[in-house]
Amino acid sequence: MRRSRGRHAEESWQRPGRRGRMGRMTLTVGVLGTGIMGAAMARNLLKAGHTVRVWNRSQDKAAPLAADGAEVAATPADAVKDADVVLTMLYDGGAVREVMASAAGAVPNGAIWVQSTTVSLEDVDRLAEQAEERGLVFFDAPVLGTRQPAEAGQLTVLAAGPADSREAVTPVFEAVGARTVWLDQPGEATRLKLVANSWVLALTHAGAETLSLAEALGVDPDKFLQLIEGGPLDNGYLRTKLGLTRGDKLSPASFAVNTAEKDARLIAEAGRSHGVRLDLVEAGAERFRRATEQGHGDKDMAATYYASFDK
Ligand SMILES: NC(=O)c1ccc[n+]([C@@H]2O[C@H](COP(=O)([O-])OP(=O)(O)OC[C@H]3O[C@@H](n4cnc5c(N)ncnc54)[C@H](OP(=O)(O)O)[C@@H]3O)[C@@H](O)[C@H]2O)c1
Repeated sequence: MRRSRGRHAEESWQRPGRRGRMGRMTLTVGVLGTGIMGAAMARNLLKAGHTVRVWNRSQDKAAPLAADGAEVAATPADAVKDADVVLTMLYDGGAVREVMASAAGAVPNGAIWVQSTTVSLEDVDRLAEQAEERGLVFFDAPVLGTRQPAEAGQLTVLAAGPADSREAVTPVFEAVGARTVWLDQPGEATRLKLVANSWVLALTHAGAETLSLAEALGVDPDKFLQLIEGGPLDNGYLRTKLGLTRGDKLSPASFAVNTAEKDARLIAEAGRSHGVRLDLVEAGAERFRRATEQGHGDKDMAATYYASFDK
């Protein structure tokens, strides 16, 4: 089977994985980044019977995965040696470039690189080039869903990569997600992800501002929720985020304020470079920055609520 990637990869590539019990394909997966999302994805890969090696910059976040059966690696290179698939789930494109630069030499030629970190459009191109240089099969594969769906293996994976490698990578997506949306070219998945996140961020800020306004005007927030109940303006996401804020349950975060600010800036940049003014996204990024300045950077992004107030 021929693959569209570097010459060396084509020469050396073999179908990855082994048939495990029940005839299921099991893979060796190197997971780089075991934060909120990466740790949950690694656990689900283990549950699906794959061999998983994990690495994280702060070792304390990777170490607990040993109890789930993961091999905890001291370096990114140790995590990816012999890997059929490398999964990157780091903070941003800069972190991915840096970590893969130190790991890539150890990845077997022809291995698949599933890049799930939310990165900029420019970063996707650079990472795809980095993969090509190393003879790796690149999947631009950001995910939709937060901590709880990640823990439950219910993410939606947006996957753009070579069609003839879909079958080989499917066991990974099936382990971490409930649904895979296949797209063709690297970059297409990140475009869709940025569009989806612009909607999520807008809802988050709208809910937070509505709550802060209600409180400032002496309106019981429950009255507002009753007003919209069951109608076209009602929204499960709004209710969840308001519940977290009102119940003082913003820690631990599902999606932290500082990560959300990073995403907002990526979206604003994508809009600017494509001639679109995204005023709400820009204002939202500033709300996240203020919330971080106020000491809420590690809390759930619903903590944009605090940015409504001067202190
Ligand atoms: N949380 C969500 O709901 C969600 C949903 C979909 C997509 N995402 C995206 O998924 C990615 C991970 O998000 P997360 O929520 O899991 O974030 P997180 O918990 O903050 O994890 C970020 C990870 O990146 C690592 N990292 C940061 N900078 C690094 C650097 N310079 N070098 C090496 N490692 C570095 C962190 O290591 P340390 O532990 O050492 O800091 C940590 O492992 C982000 O791109 C985010 O936008 C998140």
